[in-house]
Amino acid sequence: MREIKIDAPGAGAWIMERVDGVFRDRVDHSFSSHEDGEILGGFALTGYMGLAMSIHMAAGLTVIGLLAIRIVWRVTDPPPPPIATPLGNLLISISKFAHFALYALLAATPAVGILVQFARGDALPLYGLVEIASPWVRDRAFAGSMKEIHETLANLLMILAVVHATAACVHHWIFRDRTLARMLPGIAR
Ligand code: HEM
Repeated sequence: MREIKIDAPGAGAWIMERVDGVFRDRVDHSFSSHEDGEILGGFALTGYMGLAMSIHMAAGLTVIGLLAIRIVWRVTDPPPPPIATPLGNLLISISKFAHFALYALLAATPAVGILVQFARGDALPLYGLVEIASPWVRDRAFAGSMKEIHETLANLLMILAVVHATAACVHHWIFRDRTLARMLPGIAR
């Protein structure tokens, strides 16, 4: 089992050690079942690794919250109809599918992340305030499968986000339409 050591000189090191110490206690508790170091390839989930996972989970939970707000917003204030492109209805159908897939991946990725945590028998920390206990006992094989799915979904999400942003740029600079510009507040949709 390897621990991550802090090795920075001067005031920076002092601050990093304080931060590490504060989070180490809190995080070690949540991740105690990782202390065998197996899941993280030899690294104990303490210090910065634990802090990184706490931030990761808090960010993922925030994605779920923001997604819920966005879905309510979209239902109550639907987007304007798509602007016609030189490629016709095919592109519009592809973009509708891509938007649906983006929402589905934004929901599924953090949801499966929560399953990874529970499958490891670990509690789910809610922003360091409270924890939801795992409803399951630790099942390493199931946790491994869930982790694979979680990573695959996360990779698909990143790829689709890049494709989506590229498509927006194509609208703006190649088709020269208002698809991107009309997202700005104050511009007629
Ligand atoms: C949209 C939100 C999320 C994205 C994009 C995401 C992405 C990822 C990625 C790429 C990994 C693989 C890291 C690696 O091993 O290289 C990972 C691992 C993991 N994620 Fe997430 N995640 C999200 C939300 C969550 C949430 C909400 C939780 C739980 C509350 C979570 C729990 C985990 C766990 C337990 C691992 C395994 C870490 C390990 O190797 O021990 N994730 N996530």
